[in-house]
Amino acid sequence: MCPRNLRYTMQRKIVLADDGLPRQWYNILPDLPKPLPPPIDPQTRAPGPGLLPRLFTNEQLRQEMSSERWITIPEEVRNALTLWRPTPLIRAVRLEKALKTPAKIYYKYEGVSPPGSHKPNTAVAQAYYAAQEGVERLTTETGAGQWGSSLAFAGALFGVKVTVYMVRSSYDQKPYRRILMHTWGAEVLPSPSERTSFGRKVLSQEPNNPGSLGIAISEAIEDALNSENTKYSIGSVANHVLLHQTVQGLEAKAQLEMLDEYPDIVAGCVGGGSSFSGLFWPFYYDKISKKAPKDVKFVGTEPSACPTMTRGVYTYDFGDTARLTPMLPMYTLGSDFIPPPIHAGGLRYHGDAPTLCLLLREGYIEPRAYNQVEVFEAATIFARTEGLIPAPEPSHTIKYVIDEALRCKRTGESKTILFNLCGHGHFDLQAYQEFFEGKLPAWEYPEEAIKKSIEKLEKEFSWIKDLPFLK
Ligand SMILES: Cc1ncc(COP(=O)(O)O)c(C=O)c1O
Repeated sequence: MCPRNLRYTMQRKIVLADDGLPRQWYNILPDLPKPLPPPIDPQTRAPGPGLLPRLFTNEQLRQEMSSERWITIPEEVRNALTLWRPTPLIRAVRLEKALKTPAKIYYKYEGVSPPGSHKPNTAVAQAYYAAQEGVERLTTETGAGQWGSSLAFAGALFGVKVTVYMVRSSYDQKPYRRILMHTWGAEVLPSPSERTSFGRKVLSQEPNNPGSLGIAISEAIEDALNSENTKYSIGSVANHVLLHQTVQGLEAKAQLEMLDEYPDIVAGCVGGGSSFSGLFWPFYYDKISKKAPKDVKFVGTEPSACPTMTRGVYTYDFGDTARLTPMLPMYTLGSDFIPPPIHAGGLRYHGDAPTLCLLLREGYIEPRAYNQVEVFEAATIFARTEGLIPAPEPSHTIKYVIDEALRCKRTGESKTILFNLCGHGHFDLQAYQEFFEGKLPAWEYPEEAIKKSIEKLEKEFSWIKDLPFLK
């Protein structure tokens, strides 16, 4: 993949030259252990894409359903990606030493992108396709502000206007992310907002509603459907988004190869599943095509306040609260469940990507859930050893990695762990401050709220259990 003379290797940090950026994305659809259950149109109760063809650009839609294993990355997109890619793979030597662990810990650092996370890997592709197809404006939602700022940045690169519906709790907690989006020229509205009929309905019932990703998605979709020459852009969950993220895993594989290393464990946090999938899919491909030299394990981490993988129900649910998307097969907490306002805003989503959920159900993924206090304890250990201040989302994975490294210390195993440090926390310092002041609530599993939301779903759509696709 990368010619030897373009490689530059150090023990601590493995860097690829620009030419090491992959030329193709990996698409998992042809390699899933079972066919992916189709989206269901709730009106007809039959498979169908619902409104998706009106929402997405043609190329997004084509990739969403593509059965090609490798999809060529357009040169203009590669060109934009080389602003910050390939990203470094870093060995956490100082963390290993502090923990006195025989485990080797590597992290793929995605915080070097201009918005500070993995999210622009797909944003630049989506903005490029929109510009190619003559779309004037893209609408979207954002939780922590990482995705919104990534699309704002990508829109600026390709001359496409961007409107972002930002979950109200993050809008209030993270004013600087908002300013970042303005700087790149985007319009930002707190969600629920007065701009859409769905936002107005939510506000009339609960004026202080903190918002959720489900509500913000509904508003962004409604705006796109009711506006001329406007499409909807999505930051996670959809298959085409996850495959755009595979540049991470493909680069990481090449970087580890340079050290003659292969991971025993690949770990990442899960909001909708894009950063984790982007890292582990290429290793999954090795595994199922019997090319992996080891029996690699995949571990997904999540907040115990929004525990989709560990406590969700595998069924069909809507991707958004207003039920504008088709119903998707996933582990869900119910699309009207509003998670507690934890600081990992990007992990406050009621479901996960259908591909990830299928792999979880088939036993390919081990899920782990943590509360935000233990997560910030782990983030602080990382910051004080490795120096980088991690975003709250990947800090869930850091918590897992530290626990696993300490387990290795007890057993004497020298496992190789690869994880995704998918964003920096420079705009999350308010959360760090609350943690240091002891004011951060250790929100736990909101059992009653989830139960209510799932019961409502099961009652209203009782026919779902009779569909053949989930069996
Ligand atoms: C830094 C960061 N990590 C992770 C996520 C979760 O999303 P995903 O699971 O799609 O990577 C987000 C979402 O906004 C994020 O901003």
